[in-house]
Amino acid sequence: MKKPLIEVEGVSKFFGDKVVHDGIDLDIRKGEILTLMGGSGSGKSVLLRSLIGLEKPDKGKILFDGQDITKLGEEQLVDVRKRIAYCFQYGALFDSLTIAENLAYPLREHTKLTDGEISERVHAALEQVGLGGSEELLPSDLSGGMQRRVGVARAIILKPEVILYDEPTTGLDPYNTRQILRIVLDLKKQGVTSVLVTHDMSSIFAVTDRVAFLKKGKIAALGTAEEIRDTKNAELKGFILGETM
Ligand SMILES: Nc1ncnc2c1ncn2[C@@H]1O[C@H](COP(=O)(O)OP(=O)(O)O)[C@@H](O)[C@H]1O
Ligand SMILES: [Mg+2]
Repeated sequence: MKKPLIEVEGVSKFFGDKVVHDGIDLDIRKGEILTLMGGSGSGKSVLLRSLIGLEKPDKGKILFDGQDITKLGEEQLVDVRKRIAYCFQYGALFDSLTIAENLAYPLREHTKLTDGEISERVHAALEQVGLGGSEELLPSDLSGGMQRRVGVARAIILKPEVILYDEPTTGLDPYNTRQILRIVLDLKKQGVTSVLVTHDMSSIFAVTDRVAFLKKGKIAALGTAEEIRDTKNAELKGFILGETM
């Protein structure tokens, strides 16, 4: 078997007395879609943020492409974050900048592309999320679902190898939910690895390769979408049914 792209090894994380992660082991394979599920407060967001060094584990390692990112300083993390993009829950766009300027921003920060090349890259990213032609609009001109898709366009603009999505479809209507899932699948075809945190199990089961279930600081279950959906574990089953009602 090929080496995993990301290896979480014995990760523990505490906030004061509170144990959020209690020795987590998890491999993320290149090109897969992995979904993290678990109750509210089970540490899904903290785990996602740890994968790009926004949180530091108190114990354990997180290897990305063989390098332990928990040991890196902010400057080295900038390089990691070009390869692993984090998609914010609410798009987090700059309100006063046009859509095109919002997307150009990371390119101006991190690349030496010319203005022409930047426009092309911005156009291609908007096309990919089904929003071609919205370059000159302001975020406030778009619906919440469209803003979320612009957020995804901004995450893919630097052509990352991994994209982390925190609740990408929460609160979205069925149309925008399908659009987001289509984008995740499109990116998979291009070899991109995705890690999703979600409560929206019914739609996620159609796209995800594997599911990891977080409970009491540990990975309580891990398997393919089918294995998790058909689980005999009553508690897990209840959780899935509860979340998809
Ligand atoms: N910066 C922080 N300081 C203190 N506690 C935190 C912090 N971030 C998260 N927590 C706590 O860690 C637990 C896990 O949070 P989180 O990962 O956001 O949960 P979720 O699974 O809902 O995404 C929660 O109890 C939360 O209150
Ligand atoms: Mg969360």
